[in-house]
Formats: sequence, C-alpha cells, structure tokens
Amino acid sequence: MDVSPFVESPIQVVKKMLQLAEPKPGEILYDMGSGDGRILIIAAKEFNLRCVGIEIRQDLFKRSLDEVKRLNLEDRIKIINADFFNVNISDADIVTLYLNSSANEKLRPKLEKELKVGTRVVSHDYEIKGWMPTKVVRNDPIGHNIYLYVFDPPRIFLQSSSKVSHPEIGHRLPGIF
Ligand SMILES: C[S@@+](CC[C@H](N)C(=O)[O-])C[C@H]1O[C@@H](n2cnc3c(N)ncnc32)[C@H](O)[C@@H]1O
Repeated sequence: MDVSPFVESPIQVVKKMLQLAEPKPGEILYDMGSGDGRILIIAAKEFNLRCVGIEIRQDLFKRSLDEVKRLNLEDRIKIINADFFNVNISDADIVTLYLNSSANEKLRPKLEKELKVGTRVVSHDYEIKGWMPTKVVRNDPIGHNIYLYVFDPPRIFLQSSSKVSHPEIGHRLPGIF
C-alpha cells in the first residue's frame, strides 16, 4: 500500500535528523520509504551506519540502488523493493520517516510491535500521534520540523489505552547483514 508520494528530504534536514538520533557507528538504520536513497547514503557515509531502505516504487528502488553501487556502498546499504508494512524491522536502532500524518498513524502499530526499547524514531515534519516526542526541533532548517522519539513503552504512550499485541507479522528477511 503506497501511503505517501515521493518528496525528498532536503540534505540539511537529513543531516539534522541523523544528528538528533545520536547514531553510534555500526548501528542499523531503516528508512521507511527510502525514495532516492539520500538518507541511507548520508547515514552510511557520514555516520558509519548500516542502512536498510524499503521503497515500494520500483523506479526509485532502481535509481537508489544504482547510486549505492556507484558510490561503492553496497556493503553498508541494502535496499528492498517492498511494502514496508511487510518487512520486519525489529533489528533497527534508528528508524527514519518522511511520510504524512495518516501514514504515520497506520505505521504506528507495526512500530509498537517490532521496535526494541531504545530505538530512535526520527520523523521529518509529521508527528506520530499518540507518542510523546523526546525532542522537537521546529523550523530548523527553516520551514521544517523534526520529531525525535525514543521508543520506551509504556512511557512513550500519551494515552494509557494504547495496546501492544504481538501477532505474527510480515515476512522476515534474515541475514540482511
Ligand atoms: C516523502 S518520500 C520520502 C523519501 C525519503 N525517505 C526522504 O526523506 O527523502 C516517501 C517515500 O515513501 C515511499 N512509500 C510510500 N508508501 C510506501 C510503502 N508502503 N512501502 C515502502 N515505501 C513506501 C514513496 O514511494 C516515497 O518514495
């Protein structure tokens, strides 16, 4: 299910998102809807992260993969041409989002099922309703807001009624790294 059109995060925003997540070398980042791959490429090159992009559009998948190959970053960046609702992300240390409010709302139950405690979720411009951000950076860079969440249930939930269930989900892609 394609839940958001392709719009790039400006490079300055990408760098700010990554700085906010306070990445440690070797951690695993997932970009949900990785577009042209820019978050993955900057995260791998400048922050030494291992990155997984999930992109539903085949043209963007191919374009970003070509760029990753051109930059010789294949050992650090994997890109999956799939619907992110069907990919298990439980090994993520950092998750980046640039979707929209309704997409974040649809994604939230999956995040709550799969993320481990301490995973940082950084969202460009759109908050995750029902979660309490650890930090919000407004209008920096100008015109952009960034929301940082540190996944730590139940403290992250704004409403105590939030339910976390653990049914079998999606297909697991073992051995990505
Ligand atoms: C706003 S763009 C963000 C691109 C990139 N993350 C960035 O910040 O520059 C959202 C991307 O999500 C992709 N997308 C939308 N729904 C998706 C889904 N269910 N699974 C995987 N990708 C999806 C779109 O094709 C688009 O490339």
